[in-house]
Amino acid sequence: MTTQILPTDFPEDLKSSVSEAARLLAQGEVVALPTETVYGLAADALNADAVAKIFAAKERPTFDPLIVHIPHKNDLDMVAEVPENIAKAVTKLIERFWPGPLTLVLPKKACVPDIVTSGLPTVAVRASSNLVFNRVARTLGKPLAAPSANRFGAISPTSANAVRAELDGRIPLILDGGACLHGLESTIIKVEDVGESKPRFVVLRPGPITMDDLKPFGRPVLLKNLKGDHKIEVPGQLPSHYAPRTPLRLLEAPDDFIPEHGKTYALLSFCGDEEDGYLKLADWKQTFVLSPGKGKMPEAAVRFFFALRELDNLGVDEIIAEPMQERGLGIAIMDRLRRAATKR
Ligand code: TXA
Ligand code: MG
Repeated sequence: MTTQILPTDFPEDLKSSVSEAARLLAQGEVVALPTETVYGLAADALNADAVAKIFAAKERPTFDPLIVHIPHKNDLDMVAEVPENIAKAVTKLIERFWPGPLTLVLPKKACVPDIVTSGLPTVAVRASSNLVFNRVARTLGKPLAAPSANRFGAISPTSANAVRAELDGRIPLILDGGACLHGLESTIIKVEDVGESKPRFVVLRPGPITMDDLKPFGRPVLLKNLKGDHKIEVPGQLPSHYAPRTPLRLLEAPDDFIPEHGKTYALLSFCGDEEDGYLKLADWKQTFVLSPGKGKMPEAAVRFFFALRELDNLGVDEIIAEPMQERGLGIAIMDRLRRAATKR
């Protein structure tokens, strides 16, 4: 199969590329589409055979459920039910954050095939704010299942070229919508009524919508901080994920590192400040600074997966990564870094 990349830069391109994508999707094919987070590999969420092609192209195990994208924020009832006791909170979250990078885990409707949810009674839903994605979803008029458009466990793609590097020859079409706005996958939450005045939001995956963003609407708690019986099983959130082929080490303190003779290294730096003590630790083959200067987290997030891909392509023995503060967006970036650093 040859993989075509179609542009969306100008109105004429956009129109013809969108109709080609919608045509393929209506036929039960898969198409890679830009979203505001990362590129997704989309298929008609209500067509089990089409969804099976996503798993095949990505070599994704079927125990890892997909996120379903509804064409419009008012279309939740296409795929999910909202329990009475959390309805108010869900409505407020949707009003505030959709379309956008927040995914809600809710009881699924019977029309959603089991392959989408890995047999779970719940479905993960969001509405994307990306214009190209929306045009395609609205032209098709159906919900789209779309995980990130990378091979299972690999680095998420934030450009059409990155999708090609992952899935060339395995999918018929990629729509090129340029770089993704956020660069990190959506925040995934489960809204729970725990008998308190505010609902609890279990954050299954930290992302662009931060704990601080969620606080006015409920009590967000990171899944990893939930203890004992309250622990929810999250399929698919494996310890190793987003991983380059090159070994990556998260270096909590610069003193913990002595370069080995004859080995080559690259550095992933947050702000490239000499005072942090990382720049001169080794004769780096390349230093990639995520946000030069004062270190801005949204900038670091946008460039993060691109940086991993660049450094992975150098062929060094090891990538050394600086940590960053685990606050705000830093929680989501550090989550990705830790998983990238875990051996498969
Ligand atoms: O930003 C995003 O969310 C991107 C873009 C393409 O929308 N999509 C994405 O999908 O990151 P993916 O497949 O890489 O991540 C889906 C994850 C699963 O690995 C799983 O952890 C969680 O979403 N998930 C899906 N359905 C779930 C469910 N019913 N219950 C709990 N977690 C679920
Ligand atoms: Mg993914």
